Amino acid sequence: MNNNITILKRFAISIGTLSLLFLACNSTNQLKKNSEKTTITEVIGIKPDLIREPYLQKVRKDSTIITWKTNGIAKNCYVSITERATKSNSIIKGYLTPHEGFMFNEVAISGLKPNTIYNYSIYSNGHLLAGGTDYYFKTAPKDKNSPFSFYALGDIGAKEQGSFAMEPANRITELAIKPDFGLGLGDIVYPKGESKNYDNHLFKPFKDVFKNIPFYPVAGNHDWLSVNHDENFKKEWNLPNKEYYYTFSYANTLFIGLDSRDGNFYDYEHQTVWLKKTLSENKGKFDWIVVYLHHNGKSCTYKQDYEHVISLYDVFASYNVDLVLNGHAHTYERLKPYDANGNIDSSQNNHSIYENLENQFISITIGAGGKINKKWEPNPNNNKNCDDGTIVAHSEHVASFGLISIDKKTLSFKGINSFTGDAFDEFIIKK
Ligand SMILES: [Fe+2]
Repeated sequence: MNNNITILKRFAISIGTLSLLFLACNSTNQLKKNSEKTTITEVIGIKPDLIREPYLQKVRKDSTIITWKTNGIAKNCYVSITERATKSNSIIKGYLTPHEGFMFNEVAISGLKPNTIYNYSIYSNGHLLAGGTDYYFKTAPKDKNSPFSFYALGDIGAKEQGSFAMEPANRITELAIKPDFGLGLGDIVYPKGESKNYDNHLFKPFKDVFKNIPFYPVAGNHDWLSVNHDENFKKEWNLPNKEYYYTFSYANTLFIGLDSRDGNFYDYEHQTVWLKKTLSENKGKFDWIVVYLHHNGKSCTYKQDYEHVISLYDVFASYNVDLVLNGHAHTYERLKPYDANGNIDSSQNNHSIYENLENQFISITIGAGGKINKKWEPNPNNNKNCDDGTIVAHSEHVASFGLISIDKKTLSFKGINSFTGDAFDEFIIKK
């Protein structure tokens, strides 16, 4: 029996009943001192089936959300968390949201310490469904100079035999230093982003990643094909601002996720106004800015260039965006640094280390996260899809994900082969 249960049992025995430290049931639960005993919870009926393993969302400096899915019989849910270093334990009640015959069990936790590891266990109807030392999360750092890393990939979850999503998930799980979070570059679930396909196509292959590492996806054209797109995407994810386009920060870096929908952008006018406002308000506040969305702008992949993305190049360049990450084409392609007009600087010869990218950004397609285009070969000289092959720094037709590390004024990027775990492309930006 694990530590959490031992703590719970000890506490229950001490007060003569299964009376637990139990906090208010709403979306902004605040951790309170262990001496504060409140409500009683008890085992209710039979144990619900765990349909989806717990996954983390919005892990911030002092808060996080833990979600799991059960069958419809769940009547309550709660999480027991234990700070790994001090063994301090708390229990937080969550809330239930029915969707398509199942029940989302969601627990929002606040009042956490920054840069701290917590183990957790999940309960529905008072029954332990998952827990132990493999289930943990680390809160975001308070210090802007803290080094961190994240992974990014798009075009992930298709039917099992048509997807190799297990491979990047396994390679990410095996990393010696776990990334702090992941970015999903659209086309998260095929064929149409339906809720009914989320478990088999995405959450099962990624369960060992998502239980420890929060994920921030944006929607792609396939995610938009479902009849209930709005309902499905919002039910599956709890994203900042609950919008399709959103921003969050981590240490010294600002992240901006955009919704490029079918290439023409969701609510283009408002979204671009919001983008400029967000960049303007944060000007000078961060060392790095990463924008991610599903569609590419200019590209030499088999996909077309997308004008709506290209129309944002001057915004990216003038507000010092450093990286623009996208999916859509099921392959890997890193472009040379662009200026506001999408032109490359021909004086740049070294594409492994960049030391001065003022008003230039690097655009990378990382769209072979679970699917690959079997008919296509990368060839920047093929004018069928590529007007100007000189824009490409590195292209490789390989199942892959991006792994990005940021340490103060140095950003290190690796393209990782999802089957071998080897880095096939690397570069550094220094400021
Ligand atoms: Fe796509």
